[in-house]
Amino acid sequence: MDKRATLAGWLTTGTTPSASDEHFAPSNIALCKYWGKRDQQLNLPVNASLSVSLGHLGTHTRLVPIDYPADEIWLNGEKLVPSAPFCQRISAFLDLFRNPDHCHFRVTTRNSIPTAAGLASSASGFAALALAVNDSFALQLSKEQLSVVARLGSGSACRSIFSGFVEWQMGHREDGLDSHALALQNRWPGLCIGLIKVDASVKATDSRSGMQRTVETAHLYQSWPLQAASDLQQLKQAITAQDFELLGRTAEHNALSMHATMLASWPPLVYWQPDSLKMMHKIWKLRQDGLPIYFTMDAGPNLKLLFESTSLEEVMRQFPDMEVIQPFGDV
Ligand code: DP6
Repeated sequence: MDKRATLAGWLTTGTTPSASDEHFAPSNIALCKYWGKRDQQLNLPVNASLSVSLGHLGTHTRLVPIDYPADEIWLNGEKLVPSAPFCQRISAFLDLFRNPDHCHFRVTTRNSIPTAAGLASSASGFAALALAVNDSFALQLSKEQLSVVARLGSGSACRSIFSGFVEWQMGHREDGLDSHALALQNRWPGLCIGLIKVDASVKATDSRSGMQRTVETAHLYQSWPLQAASDLQQLKQAITAQDFELLGRTAEHNALSMHATMLASWPPLVYWQPDSLKMMHKIWKLRQDGLPIYFTMDAGPNLKLLFESTSLEEVMRQFPDMEVIQPFGDV
């Protein structure tokens, strides 16, 4: 099934788009990862996942219709060349809603994610774009529907429609209309995320092709859906009970299990660099010595530390270059 067909019931034909307001969507970090698709066209996942959104850190996007033969895309104040892969992904996403022969936009998008963070911006980027499209075409979609729309841009973007803790239900329908995120009601005011930059350069294999290679070549991947399902339950239990140890240990185990499936792919996918491993050893040593910190990692070499605000001072002392995010606000 193609993307446009799945959205058919939600689109009104003949609407002339207008200029949207500027819309914001937060970046998110998965504690239980999305790794592997059951449908590559629609970004339908093999497993459910759970993330925390990063408060006011994310992407701001505005759409203005223009009388011009192509889209004009601005990122962080710079006009991009239309052939840039970033522009092509955005234009292809806009094509789902318009007649691409005579409807183009100026897309102005800026990220408030710290530059040194090594965080992906495609999640917040496609979520903010989905919100702007909804406004521009007056679609009046619900948050769940917007989450479905954002997923068509990038899987993890479906979680960036919501703030706080967010669960992406994998769904079972072929058209994917039941595969969207939902906000969990629990908050965790003292939760901190520390961004440890090992290398912020563009990685050789992006998540999209990395997960596909894993699904196709790693026998070990067969055990991933079971691990993810059990981790998701543990994380929900940890969030309900505000049990930090359970949260941290489950998130770290989940990230390392995902990396194990990457290592077992062929050609092998190794996102770690020597410094990534050095940081892991440092974290394990500090934990052994009584400091409650854990980490998670995505498809890249950088680490995201998980700790509580009660440990902030000591963690800052140990990692002076780290940027700290408090997803539920400062305490
Ligand atoms: C490791 O959402 O970037 O960050 O759906 O192909 O766009 P596409 O992939 P993407 O993958 C994110 C993978 C991850 C884990 C996660 O965020 O859950």
